This record gives sequence, C-alpha cells and structure tokens, in this order.
Amino acid sequence: MTGYDAMAQTYADLFVDAFSSPLEQAAVDAFACHVRAGALGGRVVDVGCGVGHVAAHLVATGLAVTAVDPSDGMLAQARRAHPELSFTSDDASLRTVDLASAAGVLARFSLIHVPPDRVRAVLSDWASRLRPSSVVLLAGQSTDEPGVAAFDHAVAPAWRWHPDTIADALADAGFTELWRTVSRPAEGFHRFPEFHVCAERRA
Ligand SMILES: C[S@@+](CC[C@H](N)C(=O)[O-])C[C@H]1O[C@@H](n2cnc3c(N)ncnc32)[C@H](O)[C@@H]1O
Repeated sequence: MTGYDAMAQTYADLFVDAFSSPLEQAAVDAFACHVRAGALGGRVVDVGCGVGHVAAHLVATGLAVTAVDPSDGMLAQARRAHPELSFTSDDASLRTVDLASAAGVLARFSLIHVPPDRVRAVLSDWASRLRPSSVVLLAGQSTDEPGVAAFDHAVAPAWRWHPDTIADALADAGFTELWRTVSRPAEGFHRFPEFHVCAERRA
C-alpha cells in the first residue's frame, strides 16, 4: 500500500474541487486549448490523475482522457466519483498507454513524487513516443533557488523544481517551452510557489 492509498479518502474529502485557484484552472484550460488547436486529435493523458476531477474537467472541455494513477486507493476514489470515465493503474512510465496516438500529456503534482534523475528519463521517454507538436503540461511545487530540492510532503517523498530547471529538463528531453506560470498561493494553504510549464514536442 502506498501513502496515497492510505490517504485517498482524506484527499478526496479535502480536495473537493479540481482546482485550488483560478490560475490553476486557466493553465489547464490553456493546455486544452493548445491541444484542440492542434492537428493531432483530442486525446490526452492525465498522469497521476488522483481522484479524477481534472480528468473529468478535461472531458467536459471536449477532450478524451486516458487517466492513470499508481495508487489503487486514489483510483477507487476516482471511479466512485466519475463512474462514466475509465481509470487505469499505471505510473509516470506510462507503460500501458499508446503515446503515439495522444495529442497531449498532463502531469499535475504527480512528477513531484518521481526522483529527479528519473523525471529526466521519463520526459525523454515521453518525447520519444509522442508525435511532434504534442503538448505537455507539468505542474508542481517550485523553489526560488535554481535546481531541485526534496521537501517534506505529507504523503510521499517529493521534490520541488525551480521553473528554469524543469523547463531545462523539458528542453533536454526534446520539448520547446510554450509558456509558464508561477503562482504564490496564500500562506497556510500552499506552503510553496507552484509552477505550470507548458511545452510542445519538437519536430
Ligand atoms: C497530489 S496528487 C495530484 C492528483 C491530481 N493530478 C491532481 O492534480 O489533483 C499526486 C498523485 O500522483 C500520484 N503519483 C505518485 N507517484 C506517482 C508516479 N510515480 N507516477 C505517476 N503518479 C504518481 C499519486 O498516486 C497521486 O494520485
């Protein structure tokens, strides 16, 4: 059992809404707009989909979503809340997913749980399997100092990335940055700044 299995009910009770701020929703909606404006179809992958509310939001915007998570507890919550959607057991390696037919990949606050060296390998692997112009949106807790720093996440080992560092990792893997946001949520709810970085698979 993972930390998320044990915390799944608590997580579902705490995070009733898909987004904690208007900017979070705007970033996901901008990602969805990029995908819809492209020529690769409308299927995206939600990596570490948790309780499934962002996958449900993306479906409501007209996209088809392949939603995966390694936690059986989180998948059970997602299936209970969204019985009309399909959720699959998988992790960031996306072994069960045909990325060649996807137009985008979204990973919100899930790659934070993947060790930094492994994140770079994961991004390179995604790039090698995605078609040119596929869109990726990554979100996570940020640092103000360059590099990556482990932090005491309540559920599982986790790392914060400086926005330049995660953007460099995307560039090294084969993606061109389209845009980024850095938010500074109110103290007491979110402890750290948070990044969203959107990038496109290079031709
Ligand atoms: C903080 S929750 C975020 C859930 C969802 N993406 C959202 O935005 O609400 C982190 C999720 O990442 C998942 N996770 C943990 N390790 C992972 C990994 N190696 N690959 C993919 N997802 C992972 C957890 O099971 C959990 O559901």
